[in-house]
Amino acid sequence: MQQSTRIAPSILSADFARLGEEVRLVDQAGADYIHIDIMDGHFVPNLTIGPAVVKALRGHSAKPFDVHLMIAPVDPFIGDFARAGADIITVHAESGPHLHRTIQLIRDLGKRAGVSLNPATPIDVLDYVLGDLDLVLVMSVNPGFGGQSFIASQLEKIRALRRRIDETGRAIDLEVDGGISEENAAAVIEAGADVLVAGTATFFGGPTAYADNIRRLRACR
Ligand code: DX5
Ligand code: ZN
Repeated sequence: MQQSTRIAPSILSADFARLGEEVRLVDQAGADYIHIDIMDGHFVPNLTIGPAVVKALRGHSAKPFDVHLMIAPVDPFIGDFARAGADIITVHAESGPHLHRTIQLIRDLGKRAGVSLNPATPIDVLDYVLGDLDLVLVMSVNPGFGGQSFIASQLEKIRALRRRIDETGRAIDLEVDGGISEENAAAVIEAGADVLVAGTATFFGGPTAYADNIRRLRACR
């Protein structure tokens, strides 16, 4: 069942020189999850932060840390991110040959497990693991950078996943990441998403705009 719309600001668009304060500000502005993008310059063509920074941010918000790992190999780092304070750990279906093992690793550490699908990845990679997941993340841009344009073909994938998730009868988050704006949020929610990642759309206009930016996205119908 589709849950009420939640907003996960991606701190990739925050001021990295003031990251702790930015996390605090988006928390106060109404963020439901704090979306943290981890990139390795190998699986995706960009580098961001590691577990030490996630750990340093932990004290700045009690909201769930939604850690999106864009790294390969991913298994050797799952434990580090769990100990750093991640609540949800999302890995890419494309990041390794043993997706089932990776999901079990996350669950064994007591964390919520998510799997992300790149724009070209079909949903059938989830056929035998959906029952073990707490979140499915549809990439609506090619991962690596904030500020890219939404890829409209992903709406059909969101619709198909909504049906598959509903068939399980479990409350699995259907999260969409990349190019989310007030222009497309209604269509994304209508297709079945219940968590919207928003980097640019949260942080534009600076701290005084965060609460309104989040409220407007959540209100899109
Ligand atoms: C892209 C990241 C996204 C990104 C979204 O690889 O996974 O979370 O920060 O940024 P916007 O919302 O600006 O597209
Ligand atoms: Zn992300």
